[in-house]
Amino acid sequence: MSVQELAEIAKKKVPKSVFDYVEGSALHEISSARSNEAYRRVEFQPSLLKNVADIDTTTKIFGKEVALPIIFAPTGYTRMMHYSGESAVARVAAAKNMIYCLSTMGTTSPEELARDVPESRRWFQVYVMRNREDTVRFVTQAKENGYEALVLTLDTKIPGIRLRDLRNGLTVPPRISFSTFLNMARKPRWWMNLLTTPPLEFAAFRGWTKSLADAAALIFDPTIGAQDVTWLRSIWDGPIVVKGVQTVEDAVEIAGLGVEAIVISNHGGRQLDRGPVPLEVLEDIVNAVDGKADVYIDGGILSGQDVYAALALGAKGVMIGRAYLYGIMAGGENGVDRVVELMRRDLVNTMGLTGVRTIDEIRNSKTRLRPLNS
Ligand SMILES: Cc1cc2nc3c(=O)[nH]c(=O)nc-3n(C[C@H](O)[C@H](O)[C@H](O)COP(=O)(O)O)c2cc1C
Repeated sequence: MSVQELAEIAKKKVPKSVFDYVEGSALHEISSARSNEAYRRVEFQPSLLKNVADIDTTTKIFGKEVALPIIFAPTGYTRMMHYSGESAVARVAAAKNMIYCLSTMGTTSPEELARDVPESRRWFQVYVMRNREDTVRFVTQAKENGYEALVLTLDTKIPGIRLRDLRNGLTVPPRISFSTFLNMARKPRWWMNLLTTPPLEFAAFRGWTKSLADAAALIFDPTIGAQDVTWLRSIWDGPIVVKGVQTVEDAVEIAGLGVEAIVISNHGGRQLDRGPVPLEVLEDIVNAVDGKADVYIDGGILSGQDVYAALALGAKGVMIGRAYLYGIMAGGENGVDRVVELMRRDLVNTMGLTGVRTIDEIRNSKTRLRPLNS
């Protein structure tokens, strides 16, 4: 009935360490809790005298129509959640006329995904890596395999500290404890699927001679600055979406670098704990950016009502991460399909009950964030 219920099912299907990897966030997990809480503070003001026959959830992203203002966010290691992995999510995206963003840390390579789901509208998430030639290699892969936009993630200059993963030994390289191992042993079906499908790997790095740990260290470059965004702009003709923006100052500076869009995101609370809450800074950022770049948002979006709230407060669209990962852990491709349909159901219902018929009308609807403690 809800994404939360799918999360409950997911918990039973996969080892605890895998579920924790998805649900967990950095340090004391304050940012992710605050994001969830912020969406609960949203209040819609219904307009009763509006005709709400024929509700339409379509909108345009980079000039092309999508069925819903929801994009599948890049997530690493998806085949660990369910053996069907990235391609299953992209298939749902394609069937429903939505966009799928593949992560650099994906367990399916950019080529494989393009081959498996050629009809998908796909973006590729990149990092500016320590050796710029490595980034060029990924950009070339994206170009050659029909990826429409690059999503540059900037909030990972250094890795976040995720206590659940450290406790469970889900690190690179893995340091699996005995209790984690015992817990994993209790999920035979997950194991069977894991062992009878190609080994888990960071597929985009295939052919690298470096170890996984060395490769991971090369991804994070603590020196990245505006010059690197400008550099990426010079080697990629298509749209660039910068992900990880959290302040008005950064939003304005980054929009000024000639990128097409930004995503207000704190990586689902998985990097800096206690940073700004995306929903709370959304309106200020949209006003300050003033149309120079499209503004998307993510973090804590688990229902169609959350999508409505983000749009009403100024976002052009949203990205979802955990929502679809709960779906895939619970039921593979069908689970992802279910997540989209649940979100569509709640979005359409809320549009009807508040008196709006289109996505543009959501943007003009009266919606507010109730003050804290009210
Ligand atoms: C398991 C997991 C893996 C992720 N991996 C990546 C990644 O490889 N690259 C990236 O830019 N963001 C990554 N993210 C962040 C998501 O793209 C997105 O910003 C976040 O999940 C949004 O919050 P939500 O999960 O509450 O929807 C990951 C998130 C999760 C939950």
